[in-house]
Parts: sequence; C-alpha cells; structure tokens
Amino acid sequence: MVYDNIRLEKQGAIATLTIDRPKALNALNTQTFLEMESALRSLGTDTRVLIVTGGGEKAFVAGADIAEMATIGSERAREFAALGQRVMGMLEHLGCPTIAAVNGFALGGGCELALACDLIYASEKAKLGVPEVTLGVIPGFGGTQRLTRLVGKMRAKELVFTGSHVTAAQAKEYGLVLDVLPPEKLMEHCLAVAGKLLKNGPLALAQAKRVIEFGADQDLRTANELESQGFGVLFGTEDQREGMKAFLEKRPAAFSGK
Ligand code: HXC
Repeated sequence: MVYDNIRLEKQGAIATLTIDRPKALNALNTQTFLEMESALRSLGTDTRVLIVTGGGEKAFVAGADIAEMATIGSERAREFAALGQRVMGMLEHLGCPTIAAVNGFALGGGCELALACDLIYASEKAKLGVPEVTLGVIPGFGGTQRLTRLVGKMRAKELVFTGSHVTAAQAKEYGLVLDVLPPEKLMEHCLAVAGKLLKNGPLALAQAKRVIEFGADQDLRTANELESQGFGVLFGTEDQREGMKAFLEKRPAAFSGK
C-alpha cells in the first residue's frame, strides 16, 4: 500500500514504520494517524519486531500537527486525541515487540509515540520533551500517564510543567530512553536488538509483552496471576516444546510461532 505521510518497509521479519513528513518535522496530523492505523493493521504474524522512526535529518516526530490543531474546537480536539490514543494503544498492544529509534526531535505527540513503544533508543542529537503547556494545552495521546509510569510522578510533572526539551543523555538519566547512540549507529543498534529478539520464541515475546503491559496497572497478586496464566498458555505451544528440546539437544531453537 502506498502512503503519503509514512513508509512501511519490511526486511524479513523486521518491519520499519517511518513517519515521513520531514517538511513539518514529521508532525502527526489526522491523515498520518489514519495511515499509521492502516499500516499497523496490515502487519501479520510474519512481522516479529517493529521499529518506529522519523524521516529526514532533524526529527523523530516534533509533535501533533499544530497547524491542524490551531483550527479546531473542543469536540474535534477530543476526537483527535482519541484517534491518537487509539494508534498509540495499537502499538502498545501489538503482538510483537516495538522499538522507537528516536533520531531527532521527539516532542509532544512525538515523545508520546516513543513512549507507546516497548524499547526506546535515541541518537545523541535527539531532544525529547512534552512542550504542550507552552501551547496552552497538555499531552493528549496518553503521554501524561505513560511518562509518569516510566519516569515517576515528580520528574513527569517537571517535564510537563516546564515543557523543556531535554538531551538524549538527560533522557537516559531519567529512564526515558534506554541507550544513546551516535546518529549513524542508531538504526544499526536497533536492528541488532531486533535481531536478538528474532532468535527468541515469538509467542513467548508476545506473552511477556502482554503480561508486563497489563500487569503494570494491577496489584502484584493479580499481576502474578496474569503471569502464571501466560506461563501456562505457552506450555500448549510447539515453541515451548521446541525451545526446551533444542536446549537439551544442545542446538539453537527453530521457533515456528505455533
Ligand atoms: C506542525 C510543525 C511542528 C508541529 C515543526 N513544524 N513542528 N508543524 N506541527 N508540531 C514545522 C514548522 O512549522 C516549520 O514549518 C517546519 O516544521 C520546521 O520547523 P522549524 O520550527 O522551522 O524548525 P526549528 O527552528 O529547527 O525548530 C524545531 C522545533 C520546533 C524546536 C522542533 O519546530 C518546534 O518547537 N516545534 C513544535 C514542537 C511542539 O510544540 N510539539 C508539541 C505539539 S502539541 P515551515 O512551513 O515554517 O517550514 C502536541 C500535542 C499532542 O504534540 C496531543 C494532542 C492531542
């Protein structure tokens, strides 16, 4: 499928979704979200890792499209936020791991997009932040909640209240990104991490993601119950039998995802 504002490319089991409106620093407008939704829906079980990044030299995503938002009222704004939250939710619950390769500005909705991914790696030239209050609004794609869960309430308040852009190194210190790479090494690093994930059982990865995501919002007892259910489910799969057999036979496992 041909899109105007995004690119979806596949290299074997790794798919890369590039938000690609570099003239507007990849700002997220309604059309871009609809294209992302369609692209995410099109991914089958043959995609086992998704990398999300930004097109052009400067930005991952510089936020929701301010030009579009400037003209709308409350009702459209709620719809726009709901659309964005739906797409972020699709990423968060995608049945395979997702990696944000933050190659430049990740501001506002762009930071929220990274936060909806499982793993975030950033280039040394990336700047992250949630500057919505400088525009008289607040993050609306789940950012107030995901940021708080990731970096803690007080740091999240500092970032949201000040709207400051922080360097990738600061973001790493806050636990907002995992690692910081030279710009030319960022994609290589993300592909290497993806390659490691591809060696593991895809159903196990999907269960691990599900249990961590759903468990994070539950009390420990309920979350552990989720974990034991997920653990049990995997014992009904060929992958579990293959993984353990391969270990005992001292060979790499050949997972089928069944
Ligand atoms: C629309 C944007 C944009 C955005 C940049 N552009 N960010 N257009 N929406 N979020 C456009 C600029 O208007 C400009 O277009 C072109 O991209 C290049 O940007 P410049 O500002 O000229 O570049 P530079 O001086 O290098 O500054 C880069 C920047 C700055 C620091 C990233 O662009 C910036 O502050 N952008 C806005 C960041 C932001 O506030 N994001 C949060 C948005 S609110 P022209 O046509 O002039 O070349 C949000 C809400 C989410 O995300 C929740 C909603 C429900």
